Amino acid sequence: MGRVEGKVALITGGASGLGAEDARLLAREGARVVITDVQDELGRQVAAEIPGALYLNHDVRDERRWGEVIAETLKAFGRLDILVNNAGLVRFASVEEMSYADYKIQVDVMLDGTFLGCKAAIPHMTKGGGGSIINMGSVGGMKGISAIPAYAGAKGGIIAMTRSIAVHCQEQGYKIRVNSIAPGAIETPMTAQALAELPDDDAGLDQVQDQGMGKPIDIANAVLFLASEDGRHITGANIVVDNGETAH
Ligand SMILES: NC(=O)c1ccc[n+]([C@@H]2O[C@H](COP(=O)([O-])OP(=O)(O)OC[C@H]3O[C@@H](n4cnc5c(N)ncnc54)[C@H](O)[C@@H]3O)[C@@H](O)[C@H]2O)c1
Repeated sequence: MGRVEGKVALITGGASGLGAEDARLLAREGARVVITDVQDELGRQVAAEIPGALYLNHDVRDERRWGEVIAETLKAFGRLDILVNNAGLVRFASVEEMSYADYKIQVDVMLDGTFLGCKAAIPHMTKGGGGSIINMGSVGGMKGISAIPAYAGAKGGIIAMTRSIAVHCQEQGYKIRVNSIAPGAIETPMTAQALAELPDDDAGLDQVQDQGMGKPIDIANAVLFLASEDGRHITGANIVVDNGETAH
């Protein structure tokens, strides 16, 4: 028996990096997975490697599309137990240099996208008897890194919003646990972009030098833990997976 046997998981931003690894691990542990993303070719490739997985094009900023994605998930697999709000992107510039457009796209995709995902999923999870929502935060939302003001705002917002939604679900008597994960630096295309774009002496890169980079499986293991019965007494929490970066 896998640790999420028989459950259905929807993972946004699942075409790459952490989302793709979450999908692979949840599937290995018995879940049927739906991967959504805006990178269709990559998303289809990831889904093709996972037996029974479904890929759907889905911009997480699109509220109407959220309704369709949930409906297609229910049509394919009959239920929704696990939602991983993982889609994200980062643009580097200080508050003085960042355009409002670059600020806005990060907040729209990550903070608004996570809100829309929770809003769309909760009514269906309640019908299925409960579930687990995992929102991807970041240590970037917990400390001051000058190159990522919008990313920090979105991720700090996700961590705070997660607590609010978790308490709401408890107050309503829904058996839905809602948690966030705050990764430190993990080897993915996103961090490869950071290493390529940021100057060598950028303070934001200190974490990479000091703590070393984690692997996507380090985050997928935390996702699996929260998604499975092992995490049954945990809601409203922010699980930090950063090899001690924020402990210093
Ligand atoms: N890699 C790290 O070190 C790290 C650290 C902390 C937090 N995170 C968070 O983990 C998540 C995954 O990051 P990653 O490192 O795997 O990056 P990644 O770039 O490899 O993957 C992110 C995915 O999100 C998708 N995406 C972007 N905009 C989207 C939209 N509007 N709608 C749907 N999908 C969209 C991208 O196409 C991509 O496939 C992000 O939320 C990121 O902020 C990553």
